[in-house]
Amino acid sequence: MRIEVDAISYAYDKNKIIDNWSAQIFSGEVTCLTGENGSGKSTFIEILTKVRTSYTGNIFIDGMELKKIHRKELLDKVGIMLQESWVYFDSVINNIKSSSTDDSSKVIKWIEYFELSDVFPFSLTDKIIGIDVDLSGGQKQLLGILRAVYSMTDQKELLIFDEPTNNLDERNTMKFCKMIENLAIDKTILVITHDVTLMDKYTTLKLGRVSHGNSTKQYN
Ligand SMILES: Nc1ncnc2c1ncn2[C@@H]1O[C@H](COP(=O)(O)OP(=O)(O)O)[C@@H](O)[C@H]1O
Ligand SMILES: [Mg+2]
Repeated sequence: MRIEVDAISYAYDKNKIIDNWSAQIFSGEVTCLTGENGSGKSTFIEILTKVRTSYTGNIFIDGMELKKIHRKELLDKVGIMLQESWVYFDSVINNIKSSSTDDSSKVIKWIEYFELSDVFPFSLTDKIIGIDVDLSGGQKQLLGILRAVYSMTDQKELLIFDEPTNNLDERNTMKFCKMIENLAIDKTILVITHDVTLMDKYTTLKLGRVSHGNSTKQYN
């Protein structure tokens, strides 16, 4: 999926968040999206996934204006890992699978890749109890990443990760990079991040905070 953003602007009520922003996102590579807190990164993802539609300017998805594409048709092609990684009171495996009936072998492949059997202090099929005390932020984030990757079937063409590595150690960050580079072979990967390790490696787009005058006012 190729995404061309052509001079879009977006405002919440009168509060302009994105001001005349253009960008290109290509298939076959990893693209990072960065920018300070409040610069509109999450807003842009919501625009791209048609949660918010009142932007000005144009967004072309494989050449077609986003407004002309049905939301369901678009979402069938988009996989998202949200910023907050929640955990169910269930086993590691069931936390990653999207339904209890589908095939476990694919999950196990990813668990082995991240060497999670050693990381989690229970067997992969044990129900996790007292999860909030037993799992670290990084471990929860790994579950979130794996859940997203597992749901990313062949049908998906765009994969979005929202700050996937902010709780990961260096080793797992490198593994994550290798994994998304592999996925990028035939997909478009968009990673919202403040992680310089990622920004150094991949094309990085930046959203800037829109100045509203008062914030830059000088006082004598
Ligand atoms: N639903 C909303 N209504 C009004 N303002 C919002 C809403 N969501 C976000 N904002 C504002 O828009 C700005 C950009 O938010 P966001 O896109 O979440 O930034 P980022 O993800 O880059 O941190 C922030 O100033 C935020 O307060
Ligand atoms: Mg955000």
